[in-house]
Amino acid sequence: MESVMKLSNEQKYRMLEQAEPNELKRLYELVDKCHWRQSYHIQPPIGLLNDPNGFAYYQGEYHLFYQWFPLGTDHGMKYWYHIKSKDLVEWKDVGIGITPGGPYDSHGAYSGSGIVKDELLYLMYTGNTRDQDWIRHPYQNLAVMDTSGGITKREMPVIDAVPDGYTDHFRDPKVWEQEGRYWCVIGAQRLDHTGCAVLYSSGDLLKWSFEGEISTRLDPFGYMWECPDYFELEGQGVLLFSPQGIEPQETSYRNIYQSGYVLGAPLELDTRSFVHGDFHELDRGFDFYAQQTTVAADGRRILIGWMGLPEIDYPTDEHGWAHCLTLPRELTIRKGKLIQRPVRELERLRQEHHHAQAELHDAYVSFTGFEGSSYELLCQFDTKDADRFGIEFRVGTQEKTVLIYDRRLRQVVLDRSRSGKPVAVEYGEQRSCSLEADQIRFHLFVDTSSVEIFVNDGEEVFTSRIFPETDSTGIRVFAEGGTVSCEADWWKL
Ligand code: FRU
Repeated sequence: MESVMKLSNEQKYRMLEQAEPNELKRLYELVDKCHWRQSYHIQPPIGLLNDPNGFAYYQGEYHLFYQWFPLGTDHGMKYWYHIKSKDLVEWKDVGIGITPGGPYDSHGAYSGSGIVKDELLYLMYTGNTRDQDWIRHPYQNLAVMDTSGGITKREMPVIDAVPDGYTDHFRDPKVWEQEGRYWCVIGAQRLDHTGCAVLYSSGDLLKWSFEGEISTRLDPFGYMWECPDYFELEGQGVLLFSPQGIEPQETSYRNIYQSGYVLGAPLELDTRSFVHGDFHELDRGFDFYAQQTTVAADGRRILIGWMGLPEIDYPTDEHGWAHCLTLPRELTIRKGKLIQRPVRELERLRQEHHHAQAELHDAYVSFTGFEGSSYELLCQFDTKDADRFGIEFRVGTQEKTVLIYDRRLRQVVLDRSRSGKPVAVEYGEQRSCSLEADQIRFHLFVDTSSVEIFVNDGEEVFTSRIFPETDSTGIRVFAEGGTVSCEADWWKL
């Protein structure tokens, strides 16, 4: 088939209006023919989507932006693409939010965040620039959205230099308000090539002072921390970030880059000391990175992530587009762990419903009406004496994606080795995590080319792209080596 050519560096850093006359039309045609387009996830019209940005509730609506490279599926000139929603379910396309290409974002409007002040939505982002020698010079810039929806970039950066002690990997400001001041964390790399997060503060969002590094006990922990996010939840301090350069360890850290959090006492803003527990991965699946949170109208803390990873080829690349965002998830804390549950608004997506119940003795069973490529599936298993049990979904003649609870290993396992078109196989085709429980609830959101699995009410989450054939729509529950009872609900979405 006709596919998308790899772009040269020069081609990657073109502005949208510099595209060849037929270039965009060709991309739209390719995307149009792609059978992996999602049905209810946020995805780019053409080109590549990455990090969620500027997520904020403003004037009765959720505003969300994403990193967008329109001209192909490489990482090139990044725009902010703007979408908005009243309910976190139905998203309206607004179009381009921030256009790069100025003196302080000549090579991309990189990631950042949004905060409401005086009836305006302030968007703080990293302006990526490169000089003649291709050396990066990052600036932290501001764009302001007013009540009419117009977005104006401020001419000068609000942070115009990297402080001493850090390399040019310095980006992704996340702003919040606390104790009558504005604060922002920025992902950084020290001169010794270790990653960290630094803190700035401001009285007005315009003049920022460098406070210093957030001191954690993760030292060293990878060579760069991208997309940090700090907030307090249920009286505890939470630092989220995406570290690069962490080695795999048993079932953990299997993806090219990680995303996770540390939880502890609230960050002491004056000393920047953060006393916290172990680092936990936010997600156990194959495709999750660069998440960002905001506070909902009713105070819930909502997280959205990028369902993809840098530097990995995906099967949709040749169809002129790549990646999508995760569903919005509500964060809470249970037993010292961050819990992620799909926001309740998502129930609005539910259409036709089927319910089933069965005892499985060493058997594979398909329930009436349970099938498809866009659905929500909730299965509650009660362990009797089965060794392994679980769900096979997107099942076709040659394909299936398998979710297992292995009772002997006390592990949840997601296997995409037969899911369809392979992705990043060099990083393995199974992901797993430990889980001690006799009752297992698997809550799946399946879309045309993805699955998000919430295990035991959000105690663990597995987020993954899968690329099956259109007619691989079967669903089976199974038990091996004994008996399990299963109660299931299926909704078409
Ligand atoms: C994370 C990231 C950010 C950067 C953006 C560029 O995926 O590398 O650190 O701001 O993507 O698109």
